[in-house]
Amino acid sequence: MANNTFYTTTPIYYPSGKFHIGTAYTTIFTDVLARYNRLKGKDVRFLTGLDEHGNKIQTVAEERGLTPQKHVDEMADEAKELWKLLKISNDDFIRTTEERHKKVVKRIFEKFIEQGDIYLGNYEGLYCKPCESFYTETQLVDGKCPDCGREVDKIKEESYFFKMSNYVDRLVNLYEKNPKFISPEFRKKEIINNFIKPGLEDLCVSRTTFDWGISVDSNPKHVIYVWIDALTNYITALGYDPDGNHSELFNKFWPANVQVVGKDIIRFHTIYWPIMLMALGLEVPEMIYAHGFFMMKDGKMSKSKGNVIYPEMIVNKYGNDALRYYLLRELPYGQDGVFTPDGFVARYNADLANDLGNLLNRTVAMIDKYFDGEVPEYKGNVTAFDSILKEFADNAVRNVENLMDEYKVPDAMSEIWNLVSRSNKYIDETMPWVLAKDEAKKEELGSVMYHLAESLRVIATMVAPILLDMSEEMYKQLGVKEEARNWNAIKDFGTYKFDKVQKGIIVFNRLDVNEEIEYIRNEMSKTVKKPVQEVKEEDYITFDDFSKVDMKVGKVLECEKHPDADKLLVSKVEVGEEVRQIVSGISKFYSPEDMIGKKVVVVTNLKPAKLRGVMSEGMILAAGDGKKSLSVVEIEDKINTGEEVC
Ligand code: MSP
Repeated sequence: MANNTFYTTTPIYYPSGKFHIGTAYTTIFTDVLARYNRLKGKDVRFLTGLDEHGNKIQTVAEERGLTPQKHVDEMADEAKELWKLLKISNDDFIRTTEERHKKVVKRIFEKFIEQGDIYLGNYEGLYCKPCESFYTETQLVDGKCPDCGREVDKIKEESYFFKMSNYVDRLVNLYEKNPKFISPEFRKKEIINNFIKPGLEDLCVSRTTFDWGISVDSNPKHVIYVWIDALTNYITALGYDPDGNHSELFNKFWPANVQVVGKDIIRFHTIYWPIMLMALGLEVPEMIYAHGFFMMKDGKMSKSKGNVIYPEMIVNKYGNDALRYYLLRELPYGQDGVFTPDGFVARYNADLANDLGNLLNRTVAMIDKYFDGEVPEYKGNVTAFDSILKEFADNAVRNVENLMDEYKVPDAMSEIWNLVSRSNKYIDETMPWVLAKDEAKKEELGSVMYHLAESLRVIATMVAPILLDMSEEMYKQLGVKEEARNWNAIKDFGTYKFDKVQKGIIVFNRLDVNEEIEYIRNEMSKTVKKPVQEVKEEDYITFDDFSKVDMKVGKVLECEKHPDADKLLVSKVEVGEEVRQIVSGISKFYSPEDMIGKKVVVVTNLKPAKLRGVMSEGMILAAGDGKKSLSVVEIEDKINTGEEVC
């Protein structure tokens, strides 16, 4: 049953900084493909991970004063946390520093040497460090890196080379025989014109100028080129064995159905990657799909411009579904798109709150009101509009399926929203509130309610790979059973027997346009990388100013969770003769038991205030950003409570 499996991958990202919405986009897009194929009953494998070696990572780690391993370990935790927040459904997470990966890369490299695909030579060339890429003089643009526009360095070193020329004919043949291998099609022309026609040069595949990487077994002063190391992840994660004893997973899932990448790394995936696979005698993936880039109004996202959008900000404020919806809908297939706060708020209000949200709320409320929550049975086409809606829905399912099978997610989404609009229009046409006034129209009213519920059920399944919380809520409110929550179950409009509907929460509340645009802009401006600030004369405070703050040593006697706020703890703190109640936002880092007995620093002359209904008479000092790390300032036990802190 080879075609019942589906293997898809994202690029493995460089752990060099915080991930922005661009990185999130690729991962969310791939997640949608994985979820859709699971809905269709396929056996799915979805891989993502990190590309942890190379000079660039070593430099970033040094700048942070960490060993590269410590740095990548921290970044891997962060990446996993982000994917958890975004509910990414990956089945595996590969890190190129893992033993399962390193040992296979080493063997592959030796195999290439043994086969004569890789030979030892001398490299003299132009290297772009941020892109980890070599270029020839002719490839440079105005003497700078053609990919990122930065300065390149002249480098000379003994290196191994991969004889690409051995495989060019087979590569061109692959492009011709599998027209979908490079998608979208226009990218194929770019690759052929820019890289194949000018003559594909042998690729330099080792370095001796740094050591953060996988060393060549037979010549350990060489580190394997990070792209050879990285590309291999797609098979090492499955359990590929260069000596032929592959794992079951590998036999089952290789070759991949679609490998999703951004347009910036298409060259590596459509030239070097298939050539490496050919050299290993393996099949190539069915498709490399290269999506475009998320840009900002003023060009590329960059910290210095202060136009970076981080996914956490959107998710925490507007929900994961809103982020997924906007990103997926806004980037046309294979093309670039622009993120604008205005566009985000407009789409949220129009598509999610108004069109889809309202359709659900109105339908459930009407079934509740007119039929006590019981969805009437399907009686065929009763009103003049029923067959039109049924046909529209059946067509939508077919079109969406075809588009999703071609990975055209934004086009599929616009088909789904056509059905949403058509269903809203059906309400206007049938006017259920008029039918409800006439007892003789009860059957017509029942048919309208069934058609609406059925249309919403179809929509719930079609949006399930995209809107994770909303589809759950739709299923819940409509009473769609677990076993009917799959693609097959929506192919026959009119076959489903509903239980009772259940009024539920409103997932998308209309946003105040100006307020939210302002909020997002503000959050973006906070991302500007600020130069180290000098303290200006007028910013100094005097000793008198400082002494206004009254700080004393306190001992936590009792501590419990705040009754209404997860983030808060309520402590009873002995400060000299008195005991004060203090509320602190520290529960992510401390349990009540951790706090009891601690000697802490208390600001005692802070105006008392109620925090979520509980009075707080002071503040316990702590260090850290409160999100990732936090530590309460502690005082040695020999100092008595009530002593001044100065
Ligand atoms: N480590 C390599 C990939 C190795 S794969 C064997 C790498 N990593 S990266 O961290 O730089 O990630 C690049 C990828 O991030 C792009 O291909 C794309 O998927 C995603 N994006 C980065 N910026 C983006 C946008 N502004 N918009 C959309 N996607 C973007 O290259």
